[in-house]
Amino acid sequence: MSLYLVTGGAGFVGSYLVRFLLDRDEEVRVLDNFSTGKRENLTEVESRIEVVEGDLNDPAALSRAVSGVDYVFHEAAIPSVPRSVEEPAESHEANATGTLSLLCASKEAGVRRLVYASSSSVYGANPELPKVETMRTEPLSPYAVAKLAAEHYCTVFHRLYGLETVSLRYFNVFGPRQDPNSPYSGVVSRFIDAILSSTPPTIHGKGDQTRDFTYVENVAQANFAACHETSAAGGVYNIGCQTRISVNELWANMAELTSSKLEPSYTSARSGDVPHSVADISAARRDLRFDPQIELREGLKRTLEFYVPVT
Ligand code: UD1
Repeated sequence: MSLYLVTGGAGFVGSYLVRFLLDRDEEVRVLDNFSTGKRENLTEVESRIEVVEGDLNDPAALSRAVSGVDYVFHEAAIPSVPRSVEEPAESHEANATGTLSLLCASKEAGVRRLVYASSSSVYGANPELPKVETMRTEPLSPYAVAKLAAEHYCTVFHRLYGLETVSLRYFNVFGPRQDPNSPYSGVVSRFIDAILSSTPPTIHGKGDQTRDFTYVENVAQANFAACHETSAAGGVYNIGCQTRISVNELWANMAELTSSKLEPSYTSARSGDVPHSVADISAARRDLRFDPQIELREGLKRTLEFYVPVT
């Protein structure tokens, strides 16, 4: 049994990882400042984990959090491209400086490996598809810049100090416990909110922008492998499903699964929005033996079932 620290463990991906680790009889500690994460996300597991409440940039909380830890899953972040467009300094502080603080503390504490939640947003304006890790990054938002800066810090900490790090570029993760109420939430949870409240979903732009939506179980598998596959140390990997669908098609699928007759309301495109995104996952297949098991439609079913009865 090893001790895992999950930063952002009360958030959407973090709380999924906590359950994933508990199911494998691992010991789990969570560091969360509950800014976007929710205590309810941990209610059913709280007797089995240790929770440190605090911020990545609070040295006292951070040193308590990393003490004695074997592996770190670093999910804590302020997500949302539009939120970062409104508050660029806040995004940098949490996503870039927060990661640097965690790397310093992890190095001091002798952590064996840190797996970092990076983002497909780093590819930004680069028009080439599918996205390959060696491609030029062209961030379009402060969020993407901060995620990329933190990724470089991870690589440099591996090179300079020998702290084993792995960066996983998540492609539009979705699943249960993704906050459906926040306007900054991912599109799948925004569409669920529309279904639950019987209000028309909002589609930004024409809805022909495409994404590689990735069910959270696939992301959990990738994190676990990234911790334990020897050849992954120091690496950067795309984590997606290689399936590209438009936002319009996403709504059509979700409407069909819930028999919703709601018609989308179209509004202006979001600034900082990436036009198209789909992952090439050859590197993760090779080094992490990553093989996404839950495809989009099945992932959507599981997510919807968490909130609403699905036909
Ligand atoms: C981006 C990143 C993703 C990251 C996430 C963090 C890319 C390709 N992906 O996601 O890796 O984890 O930020 O927040 O950069 N949309 C609507 N209606 C809505 C909400 C969104 O039409 O109510 C549209 C958006 O304009 C966008 C797409 O749906 O084109 C997906 O948006 P969202 O789920 O917010 O994620 P990204 O910004 O793509």
